[in-house]
Amino acid sequence: MVKVLLADKLDKSGIKIFNDRGIETVSMIGLSPDDLAIEIKGYDGLLIRSGAQVTAKVLEAADKLKVVCRGGVGVDNIDLEAAKKAGVVVMNTPLANILSTAEHTLLLILAICRNLGYGHKGTLEGKWPKSACMGIEATGKTLGVVGCGKIGSIVARRAKALGMNVVVYDPFLSEEKAKEMGAEIMLYDELLANSDIITLHTPLLPETKGMINKQAIAKMKKGVRIVNCARGALIVDEDLAEGLRSGHVAGAAIDVYAEEPAKEHVLFGFDNVICTPHIAASTYEAQENVSLQAAEQMCDMLLLDKISNQVA
Ligand code: MLT
Repeated sequence: MVKVLLADKLDKSGIKIFNDRGIETVSMIGLSPDDLAIEIKGYDGLLIRSGAQVTAKVLEAADKLKVVCRGGVGVDNIDLEAAKKAGVVVMNTPLANILSTAEHTLLLILAICRNLGYGHKGTLEGKWPKSACMGIEATGKTLGVVGCGKIGSIVARRAKALGMNVVVYDPFLSEEKAKEMGAEIMLYDELLANSDIITLHTPLLPETKGMINKQAIAKMKKGVRIVNCARGALIVDEDLAEGLRSGHVAGAAIDVYAEEPAKEHVLFGFDNVICTPHIAASTYEAQENVSLQAAEQMCDMLLLDKISNQVA
């Protein structure tokens, strides 16, 4: 019987699809890479979200593995080179959770405009922090979207509906598409210099790692606000913390961290930083979509040799 290991939590809708199509699933959540390298033996497929780390050791240890499916978008927790070497197909579900991620981004943009984090905390602490929570309107402000792919373009369109000016940095975006979104294409440095709020939507790649660093922050407007619902390592956290301490950065909202789960972090404890625990895609709708799409794709590949959304 064909077997799939579920190494992260999966909505039950996908498990039903595997079972209906005659594939056995075993759920083992929270395995370390070393334990995953032991458990992976005998499985034809591996389904993960953002928790499991599919390292070279895991892929070398796998004796039957044909496919790793990332339920979600980012594949930075999979060693793609090692997968290629091992002849294992890597796929993701690129559209399933993008709406939820874009909605969370918009929520955080509005929340840091209004110091919502401190408003909530201070009120519960009995401080009634009304004057400390003076905010700004998003309307009329310039939103800089770094990476204008599937999620960034939804954020851009919806920010336009909020009355924001939208500028984008994305080497792959055509003038035509930007025009259709009502956004202006800029070079990275231009975007940094012109944005009141900057939101990141680029994958984590060697060339994007640490792109929000001391030098980049120095080029930003004083009072800039930064939102990250993409990948934690895009930001050099200590440099952002310094920007917040100096007052150059007025606020930040962070959903993703270089190390997850993040139990301690240099950005925790700032009154003007809102932190959420990598929940941009955590909606019932997105998780059902991810689960259904991942299960269908894996079944098609394992039973019918049909490959879709291959990333490596
Ligand atoms: C993704 O890459 O799809 C997002 O980070 C959501 C997630 O996996 O939690």
